Amino acid sequence: MLGCLTFVAPFSPSPLLSLHRFSPLSVPSSPSGLLKLASRRFSITATKAESLSTMAVDAENVGSVKRQLALLFEVSLRTTVPSEPDVAPLVEPCAAKSGVKFGDYQCNNAMGIWSKIKGKQAEFKGPPSVGQAIMKNLPPSDIIESCSVAGPGFVNVVLSRNWIAQRLQRMLIDGIDTWAPRLPLKRAVVDFSSPNIAKEMHVGHLRSTIIGDTLARMLEFSHVDVLRRNHVGDWGTQFGMLIEFLFEKFPNPEDVNEAAIGDLQTFYKASKVRFDSDPEFKQRAQQAVVRLQGGETRYRDAWKQICEISRTEFHRVYERLGVHLEEKGESFYNPYIPGVLEELNKKGMIEDSEGARVIFLKDVNIPLIVVKSDGGYNYASTDLSALWYRINEEKAEWIIYVTDVGQQQHFDMVFKAAKRAGWLPADDSLYPKATHVGFGLVLGEDGKRFRTRNTEVVRLVDLLDEAKNRSKTALLERDTAKEWPEEEVEKTSEAVGYGAVKYADLKNNRLTNYTFNFDQMLNDKGNTAVYLLYAHARICSIIRKSGKDIEEVKKNAKIALDHEDERALGLHLLQFSEVVEEACTNLLPNVLCEYLYNLSEIFTKKFYSNCQVVGSPEEDSRLLLCEATAIVMRKCFYLLGIVPVYKI
Ligand code: ARG
Repeated sequence: MLGCLTFVAPFSPSPLLSLHRFSPLSVPSSPSGLLKLASRRFSITATKAESLSTMAVDAENVGSVKRQLALLFEVSLRTTVPSEPDVAPLVEPCAAKSGVKFGDYQCNNAMGIWSKIKGKQAEFKGPPSVGQAIMKNLPPSDIIESCSVAGPGFVNVVLSRNWIAQRLQRMLIDGIDTWAPRLPLKRAVVDFSSPNIAKEMHVGHLRSTIIGDTLARMLEFSHVDVLRRNHVGDWGTQFGMLIEFLFEKFPNPEDVNEAAIGDLQTFYKASKVRFDSDPEFKQRAQQAVVRLQGGETRYRDAWKQICEISRTEFHRVYERLGVHLEEKGESFYNPYIPGVLEELNKKGMIEDSEGARVIFLKDVNIPLIVVKSDGGYNYASTDLSALWYRINEEKAEWIIYVTDVGQQQHFDMVFKAAKRAGWLPADDSLYPKATHVGFGLVLGEDGKRFRTRNTEVVRLVDLLDEAKNRSKTALLERDTAKEWPEEEVEKTSEAVGYGAVKYADLKNNRLTNYTFNFDQMLNDKGNTAVYLLYAHARICSIIRKSGKDIEEVKKNAKIALDHEDERALGLHLLQFSEVVEEACTNLLPNVLCEYLYNLSEIFTKKFYSNCQVVGSPEEDSRLLLCEATAIVMRKCFYLLGIVPVYKI
């Protein structure tokens, strides 16, 4: 604790900088109230006392802890260094150093400010004295219990237990949605899943589906209007081959249906064999593409039939996963391609190169081909048009693409072209913006690309079946579940099985490859969905065992956080909002998984081990903490696309 000076509240209220006390009335009760707050720019000048206190009324009661502390520090910074009005507060949760924490949050501005004002303000002798001043100039607030300055000027903040308790209590009454982060945008496109018609929907598409759905859910929770786009590969030269093969097999179009065709991938392979071995067939297939693109009814209809069969197959996977998508496949953007390319051409961006039309981009050694040498369009021309459409027609401010890292260069080039065309600002921190969310490979236990025993590809439906069956077996080994009605066993094993597959994927940093292992993901110990779902069910059973109506307890009892472990749990719960905000901003679902796992650990290993709930004098308050934990866990599950279970 060397060099750590302590300054303890209460702060004396100053008339100029007084921030309003906690008042239940100051929380906007309607979503529109929240939206209004969301759009307000939180800028403060210490001289404008009136606007400051009005702002603080709202600000004190909404938003993340980090944001609220930042507002207090912003006030202090303006007073401490009036010559630097642009310095933004840097507030972070404190990390434990060798197991010791000096506070809950810290403000890290002192060093940066010192380097700017060195020699200009005589009262400061170095970063620690800047830190001292930042601490002293903090306006009075109910949020802070005490502050201290440590090391080279870090201002450490210990939050008030009462304030934490009050925030939890409000959430229990107003609902967890009042803790939704506020993001600076209205509409986003999340382009995810996006398998290819008649080709396999492989584990890469499964990863895209799982990650994309979570990102969409987190953004939706944060009041962003999300267009969930399934950019299916429903166009391209392979359709000529498929259509000709279909005509051969089924001269009568009425005979075409899923049962007759069977597995589309097998159908695709058979047609490919035909295509490669018979030049006459190949020629017909090539003509078929032209006739399809020319819009000939017979060809269009066959194309539609093939797409429809694929769609039914994809939907089986989506239904199981509880994922909702809106299809706008590649073909949708076809009519826009000529106009978009014309615009780029007028801007002087398109050049001839070896018979093709291409765009050369800064710092990329290969050109982006937009018209192939045979005159056809390709993946890139479609993506350029889709991006144009999403920005200009759909008015999306953030366009997010979820695919494996292998496509990074493709998107990098498309985005660079869009910036050159002026569709997107050059500065990546400004909206509208486009982001590629890449992810690593799914590996089998042999360390190679994931495949199942017999087949060379993994049928996703089989994979999900196996996860469900395994979790069902494990469930039925428990005595309690043996008496459950069949329907409940089914529902629980689906929730656990599918939840396990999703969580195993989401908990890793998405850029790393991850190994698919049923035993690991279905383990009820460790960082798995099974462990988390059971932890949640256990919390629900504590509440049930109390025999109390939790809604009544909410109305009549107060949360107190006197025990250290109650406080630790309360603080972690309160950090939910800033964690979701971080997960959204950086498009990293693993950040939310880590938070959820830690929540469960703090609950089980600290709170529940050391604080008796049922039968204790603190029963009511502790039941409310259990309820708040269950609510936050359920919201995390929801955002991760996992269905909670209430009983085990
Ligand atoms: N269909 C592509 C594939 O399977 C993914 C599409 C991703 N989205 C996009 N706009 N390019 O690899």
